[in-house]
Amino acid sequence: MQNIVLIGFMGTGKTAVGRIVARILNYRFIDTDQLVEDATGLTINQIFRKHGEIRFRSEESLVVSKLAGKTGLVIATGGGVVLNPDNIKVLKQNGIFIYLNADPEVILERVSRRNTRPLLAKGKNLETIQTLFQERYRYYQDCADYTIDTSHLGLEEAAQQIVRLARQEIKEGRVK
Ligand code: S3P
Repeated sequence: MQNIVLIGFMGTGKTAVGRIVARILNYRFIDTDQLVEDATGLTINQIFRKHGEIRFRSEESLVVSKLAGKTGLVIATGGGVVLNPDNIKVLKQNGIFIYLNADPEVILERVSRRNTRPLLAKGKNLETIQTLFQERYRYYQDCADYTIDTSHLGLEEAAQQIVRLARQEIKEGRVK
């Protein structure tokens, strides 16, 4: 059982959709942000505020490195996990990468519901999202095995698409 690794920008549904995928496939669900919070005893906001982004990235890499060799997981990654090639290397060892994407307008609508994203604290607007997305999309595209646009999908629908892909991979022998 290999892992299903969900990558993509904030607000594309990695966590919510990942939970459903894990339930359907009977895999264990892991969220790297949650692992960082558990390991540090701080919320993501607190880490950024007290220690800064560099410290967050190193905590993030640490939890990712501990996933090496684990199987049967659906892993929802933080939106910046793909910025570090070491993270990609570890997760690629036994994971298929599914890139969840969404239109900036949809992302804005979704992230506006919560204040848990320090990178958007300065301005939750289309411009901030588009600027960050411009810096990011190449990273997502470069390591994606599959891409799913979740802009117009419900959580269940997005999850079902991922389940279909995973089952197809298993059937074709690319995933054990
Ligand atoms: C980040 C995304 C967040 C979280 C942190 C940084 C990013 O995770 O890891 O706030 O750099 O894009 P989500 O993508 O789950 O919101």
